[in-house]
Amino acid sequence: MNSHELRQLDNAHVWHPFTAMSAYRDESAPIIVEADGFYLTDTDGRRYLDGHSSLWCNIHGHRVPAIDAAIRKQLDRVAHSTLLGLANEPSIELAAELVRRTPAGLNKVFYADCGAAGVEVALKIAFQYHRQKSSGPEERDLFVCLDHAYHGDTVGTISLGGIDRFHSLFGSLMFPALRVPSPALRLPSGGRESPGSSMSVCAPKSRGTHVPRSEAETELEQILAEHAHRIAGFVIEPLVQAAAGILVHPPGYLKRVRELTRQYGIPLIADEIAVGFGRTGTLFACEQEDVSPDILILSKGLTGGYLPLAATLVTDEIYDAFLGDPWSGRTFYHGHTYTGNPLACAAALASLRLIDEHDVLANALRIESVLRRELAPLAEPRDSLPTLGGTNAHVAEVRQKGTMVGIELVQDRETLTPFPPEWRVGHQVTLACRRRGVILRNIGDVIVLMPAPAMQEELVVELCQVVRDSIGEVLSAAGCWPGQAKNHV
Ligand SMILES: Cc1ncc(COP(=O)(O)O)c(C=O)c1O
Repeated sequence: MNSHELRQLDNAHVWHPFTAMSAYRDESAPIIVEADGFYLTDTDGRRYLDGHSSLWCNIHGHRVPAIDAAIRKQLDRVAHSTLLGLANEPSIELAAELVRRTPAGLNKVFYADCGAAGVEVALKIAFQYHRQKSSGPEERDLFVCLDHAYHGDTVGTISLGGIDRFHSLFGSLMFPALRVPSPALRLPSGGRESPGSSMSVCAPKSRGTHVPRSEAETELEQILAEHAHRIAGFVIEPLVQAAAGILVHPPGYLKRVRELTRQYGIPLIADEIAVGFGRTGTLFACEQEDVSPDILILSKGLTGGYLPLAATLVTDEIYDAFLGDPWSGRTFYHGHTYTGNPLACAAALASLRLIDEHDVLANALRIESVLRRELAPLAEPRDSLPTLGGTNAHVAEVRQKGTMVGIELVQDRETLTPFPPEWRVGHQVTLACRRRGVILRNIGDVIVLMPAPAMQEELVVELCQVVRDSIGEVLSAAGCWPGQAKNHV
């Protein structure tokens, strides 16, 4: 089928996720047909640098010979067989590898097939655990989550979500959760922003507008102390709240959460779906604060970005609560058809081997400095730089942790006034990047860069150059400068 025919069918039949379909139909989005390394190629033969790791999951690039070979080898044996009451070889080997590499104490692995499903598994395990634990059953029924949290799009995971644009509509469907302030959020001039308010409100640290750590911790302590007996688990994205626009937590916060949850006997549930596999500079974010959660959820980068798979790891103490006579009702009655899929597990094993063989973590650290260096001009505190055409006057903040970057654009950097949403400034920047041969996605007016941890430094330089140029192009067309009229954005 040629490009035109495919596009017609796409517009006629495919409903794209997180996509404003009315606008999408006119944008002639690339239809990807193949890839090599860190480039994606579309039906018209155009190549694009994959600047967001194919939605934060790619680790080593595309068509990696070792991963391709591992999947093919597994394909020659068996593509799928269930884990319900049966086992398969790659899922066993992968479980052992994950236990070996994750923080101490996580010894049991439950598989699912996407991040949200992995979080749902964690929630249900924690909920059931309290009813069956050896220290005596408790009817705990509440989860704690952070303001502006994101843990997926199923009804259970959106109940923990705090991003208005994605979650508020479904309020009446959600179960109640206790929300604590994110230590990364800012205080607007009038005081703390209300929970669940728009996510494009993160201001430069230098202006002292973040919730002071002690304040966030004080509220956290109060909530835990007051409700501990009802709290089934504390769910957190360690170090970085990615979908909130790369909100970076201050050092020490995660450790404090671990101390408090331990003190109050609350299971700590770490969602490393976005931050795992090298994106924050260590294999797992929890390592940086020497934290061992009680439950850990992995997905996205688990298979190197090849196939859908999630793993929820738990401690022996939690697992043991589910043991007992088969008729005692202690079994975890949860599972998905493709749980522990052998092809996905084979890809994950190959990806983990490559992380070691290619020292991907060392590369991630190099990329981290390249990003910092190349994007520094955007965060310059001057009103304009000749090379950026004044762009940096509209950059509220460049937030970075490891290889994860969020560049927040605002109409007025001093007052932090956002752009009118109908201008779709963030989206326009990603379209401008695409015209320059780079694929990225925005979250509102936050431009997210998420190069694969194994990407070569020169490609990261190219990525940053394109992002700077694209931001400059869009903002100068957006009528941001005195005397210029807003046009097509
Ligand atoms: C922290 C976090 N948790 C959960 C999810 C949901 O994963 P999935 O899209 O695979 O369901 C995401 C996805 O971006 C995420 O960033």
